[in-house]
Amino acid sequence: MKDAAPQTVYLEDYTPFGFTVEKVDLTFRLAPSATRVRSKIRFAPKPDAPGRRFFLHGEDLKPISTRIDGTEITPRHVEGGIELNAPDTPFTFEAEVEIDPAANTALEGLYMSGGMYCTQCEAEGFRKITWYPDRPDVMAPFSVRIEGDMPVMLSNGNPGASGPGFAEWHDPWPKPAYLFALVAGDLRNHPDSFTTMSGKTVDLNIWVRPGDEGKCAFGMEALKKSMAWDEKVYGREYDLDVFNIVAVDDFNMGAMENKGLNIFNSSCVLASPETSTDANFERIEAIIAHEYFHNWTGNRITCRDWFQLCLKEGLTVFRDAEFTADMRSAPVKRIEDVIALRARQFREDNGPLAHPVRPQSFVEINNFYTATVYEKGAELIGMLKTLVGDDAYARALDLYFTRHDGDAATIEDWLKVFEDATGRDLTQFKRWYDEAGTPRLSWSEAFEDGTYTLTFRQHTPPTPGQPDKAPRVIPIAVGLLNPNGDEVQPTTVLEMTEPEQSFTFDGLSAKPVPSILRDFSAPVILETRTDTATRAFLLAHDTDPFNRWQAGRDLALDCLLAMIRDGAAPDTAYLDALHTLIRDDTQDPAFRALALGLPSQDELAQLLHDHGHTPDPQAIWEALETLKQARAEAFHDTATRLHAQYQVEAPYAPDAAQSAARSLANAAMAMLTQLDGGALAQKQFDSADNMTRQLAALSALISAGRGDEATRRFYDQWKHDRLVIDKWFSVQIANATPDTAADTAKALTRHPDFTIRNPNRFRATLGALTMNPAGFHHASGKGYALLADHLIALDPLNPQTTARMCTAFETWRRYDSDRQALIEAELHRILATPGLSGDTTEMITRILG
Ligand code: BES
Ligand code: ZN
Repeated sequence: MKDAAPQTVYLEDYTPFGFTVEKVDLTFRLAPSATRVRSKIRFAPKPDAPGRRFFLHGEDLKPISTRIDGTEITPRHVEGGIELNAPDTPFTFEAEVEIDPAANTALEGLYMSGGMYCTQCEAEGFRKITWYPDRPDVMAPFSVRIEGDMPVMLSNGNPGASGPGFAEWHDPWPKPAYLFALVAGDLRNHPDSFTTMSGKTVDLNIWVRPGDEGKCAFGMEALKKSMAWDEKVYGREYDLDVFNIVAVDDFNMGAMENKGLNIFNSSCVLASPETSTDANFERIEAIIAHEYFHNWTGNRITCRDWFQLCLKEGLTVFRDAEFTADMRSAPVKRIEDVIALRARQFREDNGPLAHPVRPQSFVEINNFYTATVYEKGAELIGMLKTLVGDDAYARALDLYFTRHDGDAATIEDWLKVFEDATGRDLTQFKRWYDEAGTPRLSWSEAFEDGTYTLTFRQHTPPTPGQPDKAPRVIPIAVGLLNPNGDEVQPTTVLEMTEPEQSFTFDGLSAKPVPSILRDFSAPVILETRTDTATRAFLLAHDTDPFNRWQAGRDLALDCLLAMIRDGAAPDTAYLDALHTLIRDDTQDPAFRALALGLPSQDELAQLLHDHGHTPDPQAIWEALETLKQARAEAFHDTATRLHAQYQVEAPYAPDAAQSAARSLANAAMAMLTQLDGGALAQKQFDSADNMTRQLAALSALISAGRGDEATRRFYDQWKHDRLVIDKWFSVQIANATPDTAADTAKALTRHPDFTIRNPNRFRATLGALTMNPAGFHHASGKGYALLADHLIALDPLNPQTTARMCTAFETWRRYDSDRQALIEAELHRILATPGLSGDTTEMITRILG
C-alpha cells in the first residue's frame, strides 16, 4: 500500500542515473517474519552525469545498518527511499535491512506462498527487498548467497558453492533489479537438458511442490521446443549453464522471466490430460515460450524506462505468437489472437482507459501491463514485418541484437534499426506507438473497363487527452476473387498513408469480390459492411483462412444485431452458410470449430454501442440463447454425426489435430444439449477421461440447468487439486443464467475453499462473474455490488490484483442510465474506502473519467 499522494511520472522527464553499478552482492538470511538482507553494492559516479543526487529506492524496509566504504552512516529517509551524500570516486555501499515475507500479501517483493519463499520484482518490487536504484536502466552483475534451512534455494544465474544451510549463485550477465529472483522451499524437480547450437549443455529444471512432479513433462517439452525455435528462427542461443522454472500457487500474473529463474503461476506450467484442458496446454506452451524468449528480448536487451515496456512485451508476445503458429496451426492462432485483441484491446482502446502503446505518463506502472501494451504492441511488430517484408525484418532483428545487446533501449532505438536496415522513414509509423485509439477503416469500390479501384478512408476517434488524430500508415492486405470463386489477385499489401487513398487493379475481365484486411493485417475496425451474399461467398471461397472466418463471423454478427435490435428471427442465410461449412468433411475440423464459435456478449455490446445503440445485456444474452437453440434445431443431424465422428480414439495428446477434433465434437455436444436436456452431456461427463471432455460436459450440463449432481461429483473427484477446483468455481459462475450468476458467485465466496488471498481463486470467482456479462450487469446491480465488496476487501491485501480487476467497470458508459448510476455509485464507494491503494485509486479515477 502506498500512503503518500501518488506521483505522475512523465516520459519527457527521463534522466539517466548518475552512477554505474559495477557489482551487487546480496546475502539473504531467511526467516518467515524477519528475513535479513545484506547488500554490498559497488557504485561509480558517471563523469558526465547531470547532478549527483544519490537516491536509492526502498519501501517497507526495516533499516539495520548502512555503510559507505566501511563507515557507518545515517541516510536521509525521503519519500520512497533514502538519500545519501555520495563520494566523487567509486565507493562501496553496504546495508542490512529486515523484511517480513510472511506478512507480504501483495505478492510483490519477497513473499511466502504455501511455505516457500519466492519473489516478484517486476516492475518495482525489488525496492521492497533492499535499498537499490530500482530502475531498468541500471544494470549490474549479481552474486547471491542464501542462508536458510530450505532444501532447495535458488537464485539467478549459475550455481556456485552450496552446502547445508546455504547456497550461492552468480549471474554474470548485467541485469536490472526487476529481473532478480530468489526461491527457497521444499521443492521437487523435473530435470532435463538441452544442447545449444554451439554445443553447450544446459541443465533444465522445473521445480514444483511435492505431489506435482507428474505435471511437469509437457512444460519441459515446451521449454526445449522454445530453445530450439529461438536458435532456428532468431539465431538466439541460451547463455547460462542452467535454466530453472519454478511453479508457485500465489502469483499475481501468469509468469515472470527472471534471468535463468523463471517463476510461474502454477496454473501456467503444471499440466496433465486429466486436469488440464486443451486450451490450458496451448496456453502453457505459449507462456513458457514467452518467458524463455524474454531472455533476449527483455533481459539481454532491456527497457530504458517503463514507458518502453512494449519494447520487450510487444516484441515477445509477437515472438511467442510466431512460435505457436509454427508449432500448431498458423490460421487458428491468428484467429484466436484477433478474437482476444478485439475482446480486450479494442474494448480498452474505446473506453476511459485508452492509452498509447507507449504512454507519455503513468501513476502506477503495474496498471500499464495492459492489452494495449501487450497485444497492440505485438500487432505493431506484425505490421512492421508486413511492411518491410520477411528478409528485411530478419536483418533488422539481427541489427537490433548486435547493436543493443547489453543495453537498456527505447522505441526510438527499435525503429532506428528498421530504418537503418531498410532505408525506410518510419516517422509516420511511430504514430502507432504514440497515439491511442483504434482506427476505423472504410472502403468503396468502382469497376470500369477492366480496372478495379478500391478507395479507403481512415479516421481514429478521440481518446482521453488526445482529441485529434493524424492518419496512420496502414498495411492493408488485399486479394481479389472472380465471381466464380477463383482468386484473380493473390494477397498484396496496400500501404495506406493518407486519410483517403485509392488503389487500382488492371486487366480484370469481371468485377471481382475483394477480400480486405487479410490475416488481419492491421489492428483496425473495418466499418464497411457488405451484404449477406458476399459474406457467404467469401466464407465458401476465400483463400485467406482469416477472412473466411471473418466472413462467417460477420454473418453471425449481422444476424445477432438484427435479432437484438429488431427482434428478427435467426437469419436463414447465416444458418445455411454455416451448415454447409460444418457438414463438409473436407474442411479442417479446427476451422469448423472456430466457425461455430459465437461472438461474445461483450463484443455485441461494443458493436451496438458503436452503432449508436444502448446495449441491453439481458437482450444480448437472450438473442444468443435463441440463436443457439435455432442452430441446434437446424443442425441436429449434423451435430449428432459430428459428435460421434470426431471422438478421439488415440491416447490423449494435447496437439493441434486432437484438440481440433475435441473442440468440434464438444461444440456438437453443446448443441445437442440444447435439444436432449443433457442426456448426451451426462454420458460424456460420466465417461470422460480427460479434462477437455469433462469440463465441456459439465459446462453444458450447468447451462442446461441439469448440472447439480455433476457439479457435486466433480468437486468430490477433484477437491485435492487446487487448479481443478479453480475451474470448478468458475464453470458454475460462467454458465449460470443472468438472474442467478451473482447469487452463485456470492454463495461460492462463502465456500470453505474460497479465499481472497489466492489470486487464482479470486479470479476464478469474481473474475468469472465479470465474464458473464448478463449476470454481472444484472439490472438489480447485485453483480456490481458483489464485485465492489470484494475489491474493497482485497485492496488492502493485494492492490495489484484489485486494480487489475477494476477494468470490469471500464465499459460502464455504454450502458443505460440506471446501470450507469449503479456502477457510478459502486465506483465512488470503492474510491471512498479509507486507505485505498494508489493502484486502485488510479484505476477508479481513470474509469470515472
Ligand atoms: N514480464 C511479464 C510478467 C509481469 C507482468 C511482471 C506484470 C510484472 C508485472 C511476463 O513476461 C508476462 O508478460 N507474462 C504474461 C503472460 C504472457 C504470455 C503474455 C502474464 O503474466 O500474463
Ligand atoms: Zn512478457
